[in-house]
Formats: sequence, C-alpha cells, structure tokens
Amino acid sequence: MQFPLDDVRSRFPALSLSANPPAYLDNPAGTLVPQSVIDAVGTAMATASSNLGGFFTASHRAEDIWGRAHDAVADLVGAKSRREIIIGPNMTTLTLHLSRSIGRLFRPGDEIIVTRMDHEGDVSPWLLLAEDLKLDVKWLPFNRESWRIEPEDLRQLLSPRTRLLALNYASNLTGSINDVEALAAIAKAAGALVYVDAVQLVPHRLPDVARLGCDFLACSSYKFFGPHLGMVWGREELLTELTPYKCRCASDALPERFETGTPQVELLAGLAATVDYLAWLGEVTGHSGTRRAKLKGAYGAFDIHETQLTQRLIAGLKRIAGVTIHGITNPNRSAERVPTVSFTHDKATTHKIAQSLAAAGIYVWSGHNYAYEVVRHLGINEKEGVVRVGIAHYNSEAEVERCLTAIAASVD
Ligand SMILES: Cc1ncc(COP(=O)(O)O)c(C=O)c1O
Repeated sequence: MQFPLDDVRSRFPALSLSANPPAYLDNPAGTLVPQSVIDAVGTAMATASSNLGGFFTASHRAEDIWGRAHDAVADLVGAKSRREIIIGPNMTTLTLHLSRSIGRLFRPGDEIIVTRMDHEGDVSPWLLLAEDLKLDVKWLPFNRESWRIEPEDLRQLLSPRTRLLALNYASNLTGSINDVEALAAIAKAAGALVYVDAVQLVPHRLPDVARLGCDFLACSSYKFFGPHLGMVWGREELLTELTPYKCRCASDALPERFETGTPQVELLAGLAATVDYLAWLGEVTGHSGTRRAKLKGAYGAFDIHETQLTQRLIAGLKRIAGVTIHGITNPNRSAERVPTVSFTHDKATTHKIAQSLAAAGIYVWSGHNYAYEVVRHLGINEKEGVVRVGIAHYNSEAEVERCLTAIAASVD
C-alpha cells in the first residue's frame, strides 16, 4: 500500500500555515504536532483544569486524562501496564531524578558504564551520580566503522563491580541504532542494570520492552509528534524495589512515587492523542486489532517511506563534492539507522550551511547537538559540529530534493 503522505501532511497545521511552507528537517530536535493533539491540549485546558483527587467533575476528568496518557505510553513501548510508566517534563529531568533513586542501590567503588555515543541527557546524570557516590565511570566507545556499539567493547569493560550500563538506542547525531537486545543481555549477565535512552528511536521504530531485556527505557513525546513531556518505562519489580527519591506528600503507589509534583494534565491529554494519531496511521495503512497492533502497522508503513527518503538524501549528499557523512551510508544497512543524517564539508562551515538553508526555508541544525562525546570521539571541532538533517514520516521527496539543492548552492 502506498504511504498516505497527503493525508498525513494535512493533519499537521504547521505544514499549511503558508503557501510555501518551510521544509521541517530538524525533526531530531523536535517534531511537528497534528491538529488532534493541539485540540486535545486545548480541550483539557478548557474542561479539566484541575488537580487530581478532588470530588468534582473537572478533577475526575484530569484523573481520566492521567490514566489514558499512561495507558497510551504503555501500549507504545509494549509495557505490562501503566504502573510501569513514569511521565514528567522531559527525558533529562526524569533521568536525573531517577538516577537518585537508582543510586541508592550503589556503593562507593562500584562501576557504571556510559557511552561515547549518547546525548548528554543520558551521560551527565550518571556522571553527577558517580561524583556524588564516588563510583568509577567507564567509557564505552562506538565503533567508527560500524557506527554502533560492539558487544566485544562492552564485554571488555564489565567487571564484578559493574552496576549500570546507560546507553542509547539510536544516536541523535549519527543516526545509528544499537543492538540493545544483545548489549542488554551481556550487561545483565554481568549483573548490571540497563538504562536505555530511546529518545531518537521512538519517532521511527516501535520499541518492545518485553523483548529488549533492559530495565529502563526513556523517550520524549515532543520528538514523536506530541507535546513537551518525557517518559520512562521501568520494570515493575525494580520500580517497587527502589526507594524513591520523593517528597513526603507524594503517594507511594506506582508510578506516582516517581512522578514529582502536579502532573501537566493538558500535556498528558496531548500525549494520549499523539499515540492515538499514530494508531490512526496504522488504521489508514490497513491495520486493525489492538492499539499496539495498529501502532506496529503505522511504524511499518512509515519505515518504508522514511527509508526511501533517507537513501535519496544520502545518495544526493554523496554527489556533493567535499561532503563527509558521519554515519551509515550503505543502503543495505538501512535497518541499522534512523533517518538522521549528519555531515561536514571540507570548506564551508556547518553554521554557514545551516544559515543558508534557513534563508531558503529549510530547517536543519548545526553544531554538536549535545552529543559532545560523539563529536569528540570523531575528532570533530566541538564548536563546528555537524550539519544534521533529520527526516520524519511527514517529509516528502520534494523537501529532500529542495534541501539537497540548497546544500549544493551553500557550499559552491
Ligand atoms: C538521544 C537524546 N537523548 C536525550 C535527549 C534529551 O531529551 P529531553 O529534551 O526530553 O530531555 C535528546 C534531545 O535531543 C536526545 O536526542
């Protein structure tokens, strides 16, 4: 079945604000939002502007929204139930917060592993924890030929004192996807907890925590067509075992014991609507059954579309003299990357290229993208970083072509 691109694009109001809309290719930094999500946020603000736990209707509505958002994320990641889903302002804040509770299991001299592939959101919280608890930090590199973390490199870092592996599922700079299932199995066999940053995966691939074998998986809904919220799935037994780092007034129930302060009710309404938008995409591409089944259908449909666009982008970049792509370029390895393509040019600076593209109505990012360790590992100047072009399922071939033409002109 052909991907229903026109139907999809008509749902995103940002794409029809003007006769000649910009090409939104900065999706790894934040995606557009469909009208149904915007409506859900507005309706919640009009009808459920209340705290949870009251005797009156608006409060009941707020509670219902809270439950629906947690159920929606449970379906999205393949969790057992809403009890395993923690929602908060963003992935970084949640990770910083959870790291305090997880750290209560560790002792001075214990070891944790962080990677040279991760975004700061999954590095700094663990470095701070290590500083506070006097833990030893070990750095796991990614392989500069395969662009992924290799199991052998992980094995070499593990010891009887390893307590945690924090790694990303997909890189926000190179776009490569790690084999988390294999890496988690190795770390778990050595007795370590596994914390996975799936922020850049979820806009493109459907995670399945039941299969992955990790202990935590974090993502952010503003990266997958929703409002500014973050969410972490945690294995229920572990969430129960941890001593939460929480205020006295917070409930001890799951998942509330890890959700600090008043929930962002209107954004939770938008989050539930985001997952429903994705399920709708599953329906219109011919899938039925449970919401999870529809989500699988949706991701299958846009994976094919995104892969075509990515291959076009990479092939076009390869034709521009002086361009170096920092990531997997072999079309036979498309399954090992998300559609985020970063490059540098041997003469033009990354910021000059991004500025020229912005002037042509093409939105991309230039810089290190908070993947400090990645640019350092690749020997790229930190201030320069890369030009990052990130595709989402609502992008078109015409937008990719426009972007390529503008890049060629900017380096001429
Ligand atoms: C891979 C990755 N992890 C974590 C984050 C941080 O997410 P948040 O903004 O929700 O804290 C980002 C943001 O770009 C990211 O790309």
